[in-house]
Amino acid sequence: MKKLTTILAFLCASAGSYAENVVLSTPGSTLVLDVNKGAEPMFVYYGARLSDTELANLPKPTTANWSHLEVYPSYGATHTMSETAFAMRHADGNMSTQLLCDDFKTEPVSDIAPNGKPRKGTKLTIKLKDPLYPDIVNLYYQAYDDVDMIECWTDVTNNGKQTVTLTQFYSTCMPIRRGNVHLTHFHGSWASEAQLVETKLTNGMLRIKNKDGLRNATTDRSDVMFSLDGPAQENTGDIIGAVLCYSGNYSVTIDTDDTEYHYYFAGINPDNSEYHLKKGETLTTPRVAYTFSNKGLSGASRNYHDWARKYMLRHADQERMILLNSWEGVYFNINHEVMDQMMADIAMMGGELFVMDDGWFATKYQRNTDNAALGDWVPDPKKLPGGIDKLLADARKNGVKFGIWVEPEMTNSIAELYENHPDWVIKAPGREPVKGRGGTQLVLDLANPKVQDFAFSVFDNLLSKYPQIAYIKWDANAPIMNHGSQYLPKEDQSHLYIAYHEGLIKLCQRIRQKYPDVVIQDCASGGGRANYGLLPYFDEFWVSDNTDALQRIYMQWGTSYFFPAIAMAQHISAVPNHAVFRTTSMKFRCDVAMSGRLGMEIQPKNMTDEEKTFCQKVISDYKTVRPVIQFGDLYRLHSPYEGDNLASLMYVTQDKAKAVYFWYKLETMKDEHFPRVKMQGLDPNKKYVVHELNRIDNKPLDCEGKSYTGAYLMANGLEMPYSHDVDYAKLNDWSSRVITLTAE
Ligand code: DGJ
Repeated sequence: MKKLTTILAFLCASAGSYAENVVLSTPGSTLVLDVNKGAEPMFVYYGARLSDTELANLPKPTTANWSHLEVYPSYGATHTMSETAFAMRHADGNMSTQLLCDDFKTEPVSDIAPNGKPRKGTKLTIKLKDPLYPDIVNLYYQAYDDVDMIECWTDVTNNGKQTVTLTQFYSTCMPIRRGNVHLTHFHGSWASEAQLVETKLTNGMLRIKNKDGLRNATTDRSDVMFSLDGPAQENTGDIIGAVLCYSGNYSVTIDTDDTEYHYYFAGINPDNSEYHLKKGETLTTPRVAYTFSNKGLSGASRNYHDWARKYMLRHADQERMILLNSWEGVYFNINHEVMDQMMADIAMMGGELFVMDDGWFATKYQRNTDNAALGDWVPDPKKLPGGIDKLLADARKNGVKFGIWVEPEMTNSIAELYENHPDWVIKAPGREPVKGRGGTQLVLDLANPKVQDFAFSVFDNLLSKYPQIAYIKWDANAPIMNHGSQYLPKEDQSHLYIAYHEGLIKLCQRIRQKYPDVVIQDCASGGGRANYGLLPYFDEFWVSDNTDALQRIYMQWGTSYFFPAIAMAQHISAVPNHAVFRTTSMKFRCDVAMSGRLGMEIQPKNMTDEEKTFCQKVISDYKTVRPVIQFGDLYRLHSPYEGDNLASLMYVTQDKAKAVYFWYKLETMKDEHFPRVKMQGLDPNKKYVVHELNRIDNKPLDCEGKSYTGAYLMANGLEMPYSHDVDYAKLNDWSSRVITLTAE
């Protein structure tokens, strides 16, 4: 049997070829580096998996136009004019560094992935050293045995006697051969996360960065895909994906100089973060996960989804519960009666979990708006005199599980916590702190172990006393708006951002060690923390505070590039929508929410009986396709960004026995003409029976109950009527379909 991952170091005899190539392979990809002791390691190849014969004859990459191929260029000795991955100030003031290979090894690894699951692969360690100094930079590459992912990162150790200063410390550099290379990345804003941007790479520098301090996925996201042979296509073409597994300030730079390559760099943002490494200390940089796919953007996404479900997401082998979250339904107006009614309603509609959002806590100050009480994590005796006990009793009575919202990293200037611990907040010395949400919100300094203990106690107090709490929504609604740690020494104030995130990860690890089973949602003003730095400790994330079904199609489309449906919380909400005030039909809202982890974000009391009955049917239908959506392979078929008012995607089970197809019309115009969408991922030889879910039409579709081969569906698709066949009074401008395909 062919070994899935191979490493081989081989000698190429002919003059001018590489002295020693090191090869890392995954099932579908190969990375080749030229590593020689006493020289800088060089890039040779990253792409589709190569056979031994191909490897033996692998042509040298071009070095025309003085192309530089070093995979970890450091500033000063060899590289001064081009972009570098690493720079430091040595203790003697020397700003130049030359990182040459001192030694290297490849070895099989069997370790524990960030989500706690065992994984296997191959690790290449290249020990880099400056001939003038004792410090060591290890450059690592780790290839997985069973997913097409190669992770790259570094660590730097000060082996000298005096402190050195790191001024640039990217995790990786990858040269990407010029040609018709297009970059896909995601721009965003609060309530408008993950907006797709595609750019043809040309000369110059493209920098994507984050300096929020806390929520690095609200605005531009660090994860990118390179389409190597022209404008990106969903299901064809060569793609390199690169995901930075980090939750803090990041910098992604793509530099295109006068050589034959684009140079991709990614890692911690060094802005205002120079790092002092004392004698014996080590700084480890976050991993960048590379994937290669020759099946287009969707293929690269499937690689990320596969990796995430195996190694980067908690409980990814367990179906997610269908829930009602209280936020958009009642905001801060929480009390026992309303919580009980919401629980009863979601239970009646078939939901499995009720989550009580913001507004439940208060001691000295009330939480009736967003300006007070964060940190005072005691149930408000006025709103909830029966406390958590009564809420849990009500949940049991109604037959649903119970979840609760917390924001453990925050306080308000109007809060008992702040009054007792003003030294716990992040603020600049001698200055009044700049405040965030509500004009009073402050960020607690997670660099401080006492603050870490406090944040842990927020979880521990709830979960140890009330083990029936099944779900925690962990929110974070403010950036770091002040530079200053009251904990870090004055000479290390520039460590604030990095130390904060180290503290955050320690906190996550501690929580998971004690509470491995509880479901935790990662939320930060919506999708502000949708990143693989944090997700390994979480089960899912809130895609956006914008629940408008139309804009969600775009945001969910973008989010799906890197994150699997099982992780994407998508809720049916009220109309007019609270973020954009658009009125969409209930059917459209359900069909859009159903393409991920389905939930509701609404006061059911305000729904009509007809709407409740419809949602009851939607939830029961969702349960029949939940495994297909949550564990299936995603094929994005027709992008909403194409500009022709249509979006379509589908999920197919790995055995290709079942599929769910989604079709959305984005705008209604007279004289409209949509292409018929060809399906993907089916078995051409299987025959699939068609069935429409969430049907509102008076008559079934022509194709209802009929069978078609996978070959036919992939060559022709199915005809979707442009509107719904409903009674005149029910006509509106929204149209969408959810279709199941079941192999006979
Ligand atoms: C922001 C979140 O994204 C919302 O879902 C909600 O939990 C609010 N915070 C509560 O303050």
